[in-house]
Amino acid sequence: MTTNRTFTMIKPDAVENGHIGGILDKITSAGFKIVAMKYTQLSKRDAQEFYAVHSERPFYGELVDFMTRGPIVSAILEKDNAVEDFRALIGATNPTEAAEGTIRKLYATSIGENAVHGSDSDENAAIEGAFHFAGREIY
Ligand code: PPS
Repeated sequence: MTTNRTFTMIKPDAVENGHIGGILDKITSAGFKIVAMKYTQLSKRDAQEFYAVHSERPFYGELVDFMTRGPIVSAILEKDNAVEDFRALIGATNPTEAAEGTIRKLYATSIGENAVHGSDSDENAAIEGAFHFAGREIY
């Protein structure tokens, strides 16, 4: 069964470079409704836990340092087929491989600093949304 929600973060590089507005415009123009959103900064512990599934990968330390170096915007988004459609909207992990018009093609600078996160499954969307938001913070 698919759900109609996904989880995203606008990452520190995109916040630093002034792209919050541009990215939110792409998201809402594509038909996603924002049902939860906050401007926040991850602690080291938060980032280590959020990305624990990647802890054996060579870039894990770099990823945790990057995701904690400044503020992020985290959000839960609603739309039919949300996970798949949002992954299409953001484009490939590596911006050099991302399709024209995707958020990463427009705003990411490298595979490490790639502007946005999007959940990769309905199960992870639910886990990630619950990691970032209390029930009362979700519309
Ligand atoms: S994905 O989206 O899970 O299929 O992509 P994946 O390639 O498995 O990457 C998982 C997350 O790790 C980040 N990543 C990197 N960070 C730093 N350096 C390198 N080389 C690198 N490669 C991948 C990637 O941006 C993914 O982060 P999220 O937040 O899930 O987008």
